[in-house]
Amino acid sequence: MTPTAVFISGTGTNLQALIDHWRSGNAAYDLKLVVSNIAGVAGLQKAQAAGLKTQVLSHKDFADKESFDRVLDQTLREQGIELVALAGFMRLLSPWFVRTWAGKLVNIHPSLLPAFTGLQTHQKAIDYGVRYSGCSVIFVDEGVDSGAIIEQAVVPVLPDDTAQTLAARILVEEHRIFPLALDEVARGRVALLAGRVVRKTI
Ligand code: GAR
Repeated sequence: MTPTAVFISGTGTNLQALIDHWRSGNAAYDLKLVVSNIAGVAGLQKAQAAGLKTQVLSHKDFADKESFDRVLDQTLREQGIELVALAGFMRLLSPWFVRTWAGKLVNIHPSLLPAFTGLQTHQKAIDYGVRYSGCSVIFVDEGVDSGAIIEQAVVPVLPDDTAQTLAARILVEEHRIFPLALDEVARGRVALLAGRVVRKTI
């Protein structure tokens, strides 16, 4: 199993989905560490309840993005981590970190990329009037939510949706596809090659 870290900044429901799949005994990734850039968030309690090692690294304690990311990288190496899942981690990582972990850094985003990058994705989808939105699991690159797409799920946008109701419907699909996509990467069945996703079919 691939030693894996999860980065969070908040509630950690995607982290919980990753934990649940890991605990089922069918996962190819082995959760070793949860890092939060914010102290006291609910996701840290979920990690601790699962018996996972946790670490809080506040970006506010560092002079710039790259010095924060150097400590993140050092922490991962000390723990023998080979794969990193960003599960609601609301910090942009430096180009140096992204290049260093290319192909091993996976993010979940609550829209059908390349539509609606960044923040307030659900409100953007409603304002635009799209009939369908969803979620995407991507390999992180140096852009904002611009990495190669590993997996997606489609969710209808209903006439009475608010950002909250749409987010809740999308979150159900996030929890379904994120563990499966991370598994595929851990098994080497999906990989990043020259900026594109390559899939092994057997
Ligand atoms: C999730 O909807 C995730 O897709 C989103 O933050 C939420 C975290 O929820 N991530 C992003 O918007 C990253 N661009 P969670 O903490 O309950 O998993």
